[in-house]
Amino acid sequence: MSKLVILDHPLIQHKLTIIRDKDTGTKEFRELVDEVAMLMAFEISRDFPVEDVEIETPVATTTCKRLAGKKVGLVPILRAGLGMVDGVIKLIPAAKVGHIGLYRDPETLKPIEYYVKLPTDVAEREFIVIDPMLATGGSASEAIRSLKKRGAKHIKLMCLVAAPEGVNVIQEEHPDVDIYLAALDEKLNDHGYIVPGLGDAGDRLFGTK
Ligand code: PRP
Ligand code: URA
Repeated sequence: MSKLVILDHPLIQHKLTIIRDKDTGTKEFRELVDEVAMLMAFEISRDFPVEDVEIETPVATTTCKRLAGKKVGLVPILRAGLGMVDGVIKLIPAAKVGHIGLYRDPETLKPIEYYVKLPTDVAEREFIVIDPMLATGGSASEAIRSLKKRGAKHIKLMCLVAAPEGVNVIQEEHPDVDIYLAALDEKLNDHGYIVPGLGDAGDRLFGTK
């Protein structure tokens, strides 16, 4: 089964509390989502492999470390995933960015795919699928399926907040995909919203409601 990692660093938890607050406006919400994404990327990249490299400092020759693993591909799920991309890129600037467009049908809660554009070397990359919300798990599971169909072999999933239902779906349908969260919440409500959650992530990020 895949790994479930809750990134409960105090800075992440503090910022997430402000993100969750209904009185936090769009500007601050966006800035904090960006900051938390950066902090999460720091933790998610902890197991990236390194190799020895010999360099010359102004004083001496020495052996240091540099990243040696697969190149990284980021795949935000449109549209709310976009709010986390820049934060991750600040730490992994060489990452290429693919996009998968999905929205949840408000009646059936099933994901509808409307856009896919990925880097050309899909099979060579270590992908991080990015979405603030893992609710029923339908959108993230479909995005991962879409990536795998196009040849991706190494995928991680990064979300701010998840419901247990969504985590179960990913672990059942994609046991090879490790999940990284800032928080695991209680449950889903009757409309498929995470409780306590943070509301509609896309609307709060882009000010559309
Ligand atoms: C939200 C969110 C996830 C999805 C999670 O997107 O950003 O993609 O819902 O729900 P699920 O786990 O039940 O699939 P939404 O469909 O609201 O689209 P948007 O990002 O365009 O607002
Ligand atoms: N999508 C959101 O934006 N929020 C939720 O709580 C669930 C799905």
